[in-house]
Amino acid sequence: RMLKLIDNLIVRETLTSIRRKGVGAADFRRGLSELGRYMAYEFADTLNYRDVEVETPLGVAGGVEISDRERMVVVSILRASLPFSEGVMKVFPEAHHGIIGARRSDEPPFNVSIDYIRMPRLDGRILVVADPMLATGNTMLGILEELGGFGSPDRTVIFNVLSSREGLERVLRRDLEVYTCGVDDKLNDRGYIVPGLGDAGDLAFG
Ligand code: PRP
Repeated sequence: RMLKLIDNLIVRETLTSIRRKGVGAADFRRGLSELGRYMAYEFADTLNYRDVEVETPLGVAGGVEISDRERMVVVSILRASLPFSEGVMKVFPEAHHGIIGARRSDEPPFNVSIDYIRMPRLDGRILVVADPMLATGNTMLGILEELGGFGSPDRTVIFNVLSSREGLERVLRRDLEVYTCGVDDKLNDRGYIVPGLGDAGDLAFG
């Protein structure tokens, strides 16, 4: 179990820009995509690689090849995850890709309905579930439950842009790793992260 905060200055600046009230949809989506890319770069440092030799025009140099690339499965959660996971897929273009349609009610008890799943097999793979917001945690916990039916990955990793303390506590009880760009303290009575950034799905797609 592990929590990794990605908070280099570029990430903090990008997060600031997508939190700002009134941000346009195009800028919001671009920011999410960039954060997906930065997060994927950090995560890549934990992957297995082999040392290789590469012939340059003038000789032979030592280098590396990431051997885990084809074991990766990136999962997008409709809707807000689409631009975020697209950024992740830019770094891992060989990854398999799963899609889940999920919707969480904004009234207590914040039930989640999952109405669409297309998923490759997960056995022995590195599962990355990319969703920009982890608020109550209900969506992620519901998704992890459903994913149990598709095999056992070697690693389960959650990529979030913003997480609530409560959501993190709930998901970190499971055997998984969480990457996030920020942790906010509160949830409001509609189950939104405060100060957060608003409704990510609406901001990205109108
Ligand atoms: C948002 C977000 C997460 C979920 C997080 O999706 O993208 O999937 O809420 O909330 P939770 O941790 O409390 O479950 P939403 O259901 O608003 O759907 P949308 O992306 O299609 O707008």
